[in-house]
Amino acid sequence: MAHKIIKVSAPGKIILSGEHSVVYGQPAILTAINKRLYVEIKKGRGSTKIITDQNPELVHHALFNVIPAKAGIYTNKKMFNNLKITIRSEIPVNRGLGSSAALAVALTGALLRWFNQKWNKKLINQIAFEIEKKQHGNPSGADNTIALHGGTIIFQKGKIKRLKVSHLPQFVFIDSGLASETTREMVKIVNAKIKNQNAKLQFKIQNLINNLGKVTAQCIKTLKEKNSNQLKFLIRENERLLEELGVVGEKAKRIIKEIESLGGAAKICGAGGLKKGSGILLCYHQNPQVLLNFAQKSHLKNYQLKLGAEGLRNEN
Ligand code: PMV
Repeated sequence: MAHKIIKVSAPGKIILSGEHSVVYGQPAILTAINKRLYVEIKKGRGSTKIITDQNPELVHHALFNVIPAKAGIYTNKKMFNNLKITIRSEIPVNRGLGSSAALAVALTGALLRWFNQKWNKKLINQIAFEIEKKQHGNPSGADNTIALHGGTIIFQKGKIKRLKVSHLPQFVFIDSGLASETTREMVKIVNAKIKNQNAKLQFKIQNLINNLGKVTAQCIKTLKEKNSNQLKFLIRENERLLEELGVVGEKAKRIIKEIESLGGAAKICGAGGLKKGSGILLCYHQNPQVLLNFAQKSHLKNYQLKLGAEGLRNEN
């Protein structure tokens, strides 16, 4: 019999609208991208060997704590010997592109398959969410859900709906640079404001969260109607609210202003960042070439991503 090898992959993602407000129960629109993380498992020799380009602490926590406890597998330690697990990712890290969620989903899917467990999407999502908690503290669960299901979804309070559009507009993704803060820290910053003793500040932040929710709801409608002028207006409004929320750094703000002055719109897409960069920016212009020229002239890296990619999948 040929030696057993299994290989699975999960995609990264972009948040089109709803970052941060999704943590407080508002809707978010997420789409999977054509950059994936791959997990391969095969028999090795001696103790289990892990080759990874991801955070090894998170990988260990997932493999030895979360997955066995939640899936009830390899309680017998011997079962977990002699494995060779290889993790390789195309998703840039710390850019708001969902690399840790792709890791959580792909690793869980791979192990369930290796141990001949039922390919149960609900269970995979629950386990991946637990792994994400280790990485992000108090995540909404949106990132692991899109990595699992793929396509383009509307996520709210753990529930998903597919966004039924034939295609999404052509966005350009410009890198505003690595954030020096983690997602966990950025989520905490917003949370501290919401829980602030100052009732006025609390009220203001709650209002911003509600308005972000409204912008997302309008964005869903606009994407379905393919109304590009309205889309531009909503992206600008979304960014303005995120800036008021205090999650966008000066560098990203400058880039976004320039894009607006060229007749386009842009917003952070993800947790953002303050002291240095704020991660990837979702940029829109009726003529995308204007944005590509701008990125080139300004020496900013840009990604042309395919949206609506497949979720967790078997590669063999
Ligand atoms: O990890 P990122 O940068 O994609 O951000 C996650 C989005 C947040 O809304 C900020 C957090 C969450 O858990 O939804």
